[in-house]
Amino acid sequence: MEIQIFKTQADLNHVFTDRVKEIISEKGTVTVALSGGSTPKSLFDYWAHLPEGEIGWEKIRFFWGDERCVPPTDDESNYKMTKEHLFDFVPVPDENIFRIQGENDPGSEAGRYGELLGRKLETIDGVPSFDIMMLGMGDDGHTASIFPHEIVQWNSPGNCVTATHPVTGQKRVSLSGRVINAAKNVFFLVTGENKADKVKEIIEYPLEAAKKYPAALVQPESGNLCWFLDEKASKLLRK
Ligand code: 6PG
Repeated sequence: MEIQIFKTQADLNHVFTDRVKEIISEKGTVTVALSGGSTPKSLFDYWAHLPEGEIGWEKIRFFWGDERCVPPTDDESNYKMTKEHLFDFVPVPDENIFRIQGENDPGSEAGRYGELLGRKLETIDGVPSFDIMMLGMGDDGHTASIFPHEIVQWNSPGNCVTATHPVTGQKRVSLSGRVINAAKNVFFLVTGENKADKVKEIIEYPLEAAKKYPAALVQPESGNLCWFLDEKASKLLRK
C-alpha cells in the first residue's frame, strides 16, 4: 500500500494526473472507473483546463464505480457532474463514455452494467479488471456505493449491486468488491478533516476496520493500492 500526503488538493491533482499519464503511456489505452461525489470535481476541473494534448483523452474509456439512480440530467448524477466539470471541456469520444444509466430500474441496470463490464474490460479469473479504479471514501467509511449498513453487498458474486443510501434512502448502482479488488491500480482520493478518523482506523487498524467499513475491504488481489490524501484527511495518522 502506497500513501501520499499532499498539502493541497491542487498538489494531489497534479501528482495523480502524472500517475494516470504514466499508466496511459505504459498501456496505450486504459479503462477508468470514476468516483463520484465532490472530491473528483476539483480533479476534473484541473483536467478540463490542461493544455491541449497533455492527456490523450481518446485513449481513455470512462466508466463509473457507482451512480445514483437518477436521470443523467439530475444534479445528483455523477455522470452529470463529470460532464459539467470535464466532458464539456475535453474531446472524449462519445463511444468512450459508458455511464451507468441511473434512469433505469436499479436491479435491471446493475445487471446490464455488470454484463457490459464483462464485455468491455479485460478479465482476471473471469472478473472484469479496470486499469484505473478511482475511489472516494465517505465519512462513514463507505466507498463507491457500498455502505456500512450493507457491507455484505461487498461480497456479491455479481459485478454490480444495487444499494441504498443510509440517510436519504436514495437508490444506487455500485461496482461490487470483486470488481473493485480486481483493478490493476486502485487510487483512493480522500480529502478533508471529516475523513481523518476513518482514514486512521482503516490504515492503522485494517483488521478491525474491515469488519465495519467497506473502504477497508479495498485490498486489490494483485493490483496496486494508493491512498492520495490531503493533510487534513491524514492528520491523525501516526507520523
Ligand atoms: C458517490 C461516490 C462516493 C464518494 C464518497 C465521498 O457517488 O457519492 O462515489 O463513494 O466517493 O461519498 O464523497 P465526497 O468526495 O463528496 O466526500
